[in-house]
Amino acid sequence: MKFFVDTADTDEIRDLAATGMVDGVTTNPSLVAKSGRDFMEVLKEICEIVDGPVSAEVTATDHETMLAEGRKLAKVASNVTVKVPLTWDGLKTCRALSDAGTQVNVTLCFSANQALLAAKAGATFISPFVGRLDDLGLDGMELISEIRTIYDNYPALSTEILVASIRTPIHLKQSALIGADVATLPPDVLRKLANHVLTDKGLEAFLADWQKTGQAIL
Ligand code: E4P
Repeated sequence: MKFFVDTADTDEIRDLAATGMVDGVTTNPSLVAKSGRDFMEVLKEICEIVDGPVSAEVTATDHETMLAEGRKLAKVASNVTVKVPLTWDGLKTCRALSDAGTQVNVTLCFSANQALLAAKAGATFISPFVGRLDDLGLDGMELISEIRTIYDNYPALSTEILVASIRTPIHLKQSALIGADVATLPPDVLRKLANHVLTDKGLEAFLADWQKTGQAIL
């Protein structure tokens, strides 16, 4: 399973990339706004830190302008993945960019039928938003299962399931159990994955016992 980080904060990306766990990055207009930086500048910097796909989202809503924006974003670096919303204009743009050899991430997916459309439009990634569905009292993970089943029913569809809007480590575990291809994790959730109270307690006890031996490995 690939791990992407869901942030436009380059300090966080650099820090997490050093763990060797970061296979890519996703950004969106809200994350870029939060960074307070120039979009093109921050995108270029992220693409230099991470070799894998870096999602950069268009902000136009009509096909022609989306396509122009997508082409401009794709020129920033060879690992840019253009992110388009799941609308008819977005799907049309996805097809055009994909036919031109650009990787496309279709975002804001909230139904299995939308995911099927994205795959038919040649999306490299589909981004179903699990947390936002859970926020409404719906079951985000049920959507991931449905998309997995549909994509597996039609092996010619090569779109990867990129689970987005992840809020907790449980979302990640469930995504992995279902067989999602990618999870995009906020930095704090990625860090939490290594935490366990028994790991901390066990390590503390091992070190206390080691201290009593008076030995040192180095
Ligand atoms: C990533 O591609 C999405 O834009 C992001 O995961 C959305 O997360 P949110 O629902 O927490 O804003």
